[in-house]
Amino acid sequence: MKHFTSVNDVQDAEALAQAALEIKRQPSAYSEAGKNKTLALVFLNPSLRTRMSMQKAAMNLGMQVIVINADKDGWALEFEDGAVMNGASVEHVKEAAGVMGKYCDILGIRSFPGLRDREEDYSEKILKKFIEHSGVPVVSLESATRHPLQSLADLMTIRETWKKKTKPKVVLTWAPHVKPLPQAVANSFAEWMCRAEVELVITHPEGYELHEAYTRGAEILYNQQEALRGADYVYVKNWSSYKEYGKILCSDDAWMLTQEKLKITNRAKVMHCLPVRRNVELSDEVLDGHHALHLLQAENRIYAAKAVLKMLLDHDQPDRQVDKANTLTTIS
Ligand code: CP
Repeated sequence: MKHFTSVNDVQDAEALAQAALEIKRQPSAYSEAGKNKTLALVFLNPSLRTRMSMQKAAMNLGMQVIVINADKDGWALEFEDGAVMNGASVEHVKEAAGVMGKYCDILGIRSFPGLRDREEDYSEKILKKFIEHSGVPVVSLESATRHPLQSLADLMTIRETWKKKTKPKVVLTWAPHVKPLPQAVANSFAEWMCRAEVELVITHPEGYELHEAYTRGAEILYNQQEALRGADYVYVKNWSSYKEYGKILCSDDAWMLTQEKLKITNRAKVMHCLPVRRNVELSDEVLDGHHALHLLQAENRIYAAKAVLKMLLDHDQPDRQVDKANTLTTIS
């Protein structure tokens, strides 16, 4: 794996989740795997979990970490080729990414979509420019269309808590929100679940269909109650419309997940990537109840990050023995 920007960069999603769980069981393993290597984390948008889990994972691997809040303390960047830079932008991504590539061995980028121009957002222009001009492996810290580190931690969390041999029924349900949010977490979760050993059902109001490239293999229902019946996991997430791009089409609070709604599930565990708007997306009683997995998901972000960084470090050292799933070297 050269970069980590989606499930398509991974040979076997389930094997990677298992490798991350193995790392969780042996937290002191690989403590020198990243010795003398530097990770730079560039945030064009805010973050709590991604920032902290990546820093902790990298430090546990012996890496040095540089964090840039590019939205606040970096120069305003230009991304257009051929731009006449006589306006607000001060530095072109060609130079900024090129310099970063000289200072670090792995680069993480967080870049949200503008939610105004669907084609531009879905072209992943910003992420691709950093890949093109940095010359080092790039990890998506959530891009315009995907959040693969979150999805890997989500798959880990399901595998860690599902003890049966059968496939769990996993329901991704849309929830209301006060602001238009990206489709990235929902796209990415759907895409990873479609590669995993689960039965995926997606439920949302009409008009909130995700692009089918991310949902192929999932059942899609407009009736939330029908979708929730017999669910083993319920993943709650808001996203703005893909069809009427970036718009809020529904504010019906009947879509909020409540304890009452969980009665028709198979005592489902409840998931959310965080940050969460309490009593808008999910009720207090669900989040504070014993079926909620959001803190375990957040904890697993550390081990997902560690597994991904370890894989990228190994890719740099082809003499290391790589396991069958081409995900991680064997812990020794
Ligand atoms: N879930 C997640 O990525 O959280 P942050 O936006 O706080 O990093």
